[in-house]
Amino acid sequence: MDIETINYISEEILVNIKDIHRSAEAIVEIEKGDLFFGARVDENIVGYVHARPSISHILGLYVHEKYQRNNCKIGTKLLDTCIKSLSNSGAGKIFAGVEGGNEKGLKFFTHYGFLNRGVGKTGFTKFEFNLLKNGT
Ligand SMILES: CC(C)(COP(=O)(O)OP(=O)(O)OC[C@H]1O[C@@H](n2cnc3c(N)ncnc32)[C@H](O)[C@@H]1OP(=O)(O)O)[C@@H](O)C(=O)NCCC(=O)NCCS
Repeated sequence: MDIETINYISEEILVNIKDIHRSAEAIVEIEKGDLFFGARVDENIVGYVHARPSISHILGLYVHEKYQRNNCKIGTKLLDTCIKSLSNSGAGKIFAGVEGGNEKGLKFFTHYGFLNRGVGKTGFTKFEFNLLKNGT
């Protein structure tokens, strides 16, 4: 398994992302400067992370069901790579939101070391990761 920078728009990736998401509509709109990293297993992108450096925000993180919680720790490695990149762009804190009821997401970010800042108006749980404190 390798983590690589991906061109989110490419057809190959879109096909796989649709599979991951079931519906491409769930994907947050892309802005110039957004970061994308993909996890490749053989020919396929089986997971990705999408972040926006201008607001130090993780906007999407998905690992295909078949590859979740496997020995490669794909979600963790995607997030490691993304956080390093945001840190290099000068971020001090990183933010993420997890939709209400998404137990996997809540447990994953908590386990990674993100602080739970409570549920916002939109029903998303707000997470925060302090780079200085965590020494990344
Ligand atoms: C959340 C998600 C990205 C995690 O990816 P992953 O590759 O399975 O994560 P990892 O294997 O790196 O997990 C690291 C740790 O997080 C915690 N964790 C991850 N998934 C978990 C789950 N389903 N239940 C409980 N804990 C979980 C565990 O502590 C795990 O370590 P362990 O397996 O040694 O116990 C994946 O489940 C996913 O894509 N879910 C659907 C989309 C989503 O929820 N995205 C995040 C919010 S946008």
